[in-house]
Amino acid sequence: MKIDHSTRVVVLTGAGISAESGIQTFRDSNGLWEQHRIEDVATPEAFVRDPALVWKFYRARYLQSLQAQPNAGHKALVSLEQNSHLTLVTQNVDGLHKRAGSKKVFEMHGRLSSCFCTMCQTKFDMQDIQFEDELPYCRKCEGLIRPDIVWFGEIPYFLNEIQNVLKKCKLFLIVGTSGTVYPAAGFVMTAKYFGARTVYVNLDEPGNMSFIDEFHHGKAGDILPDLIKKWTS
Ligand code: OAD
Repeated sequence: MKIDHSTRVVVLTGAGISAESGIQTFRDSNGLWEQHRIEDVATPEAFVRDPALVWKFYRARYLQSLQAQPNAGHKALVSLEQNSHLTLVTQNVDGLHKRAGSKKVFEMHGRLSSCFCTMCQTKFDMQDIQFEDELPYCRKCEGLIRPDIVWFGEIPYFLNEIQNVLKKCKLFLIVGTSGTVYPAAGFVMTAKYFGARTVYVNLDEPGNMSFIDEFHHGKAGDILPDLIKKWTS
């Protein structure tokens, strides 16, 4: 496959692309969901029940994300953006794609570096937030502030925009995701039905393998630089 500036490409990434930056994935052994129950930290109900516990979990992940550096996989996707007509969709909340230099990024599950008031919806940068008794409150209306993370049971961001680009793309590249969390796991079906070539780069065979044309088994940081060079040179 050859790619140039007119080739419409959509990339979907998951936790696996940040694993080589030292950020834990969710479902691998020793992953985040082995240490924490989704019901305790990643649902709106959990936040109502115990907001301090939920904040403790996301603050720790925010601080970890600040320490992490983009890796060869993130950087290869910057080069793909510079040589194609690309939209990058990520389930990751660590901000590493933007820090690597990717420009058009839909962070569909939100961002660790952002939060918003549960009452007036005002958004804040995490770096500007003060915690009192382990909880942050809005400067405008004194409502409780929550992480800007899309929890289980909530609707991801940018779904219309993502559907539009999926229907037009020639290549759909999926990297480092287990393919088990919807709606992201279903994007490959849309791309395939609308005629895209579908390529997967992952350590394990994903849950939605039947829609994949080409599977590259291995680490994103090892595979993406060569693969993208081959497509774009
Ligand atoms: P998972 O933890 O489910 O899957 C990570 C995938 O990355 C696995 O299939 C690994 O085999 C693969 N992997 C690990 N290291 C890799 C590497 N170096 N190179 C390539 N692949 C590697 O994470 P996600 O699929 O991102 O949602 O999870 C999807 C969503 O579920 C997350 O956004 C999060 C989670 O619960 C919310 O919190 C709403």
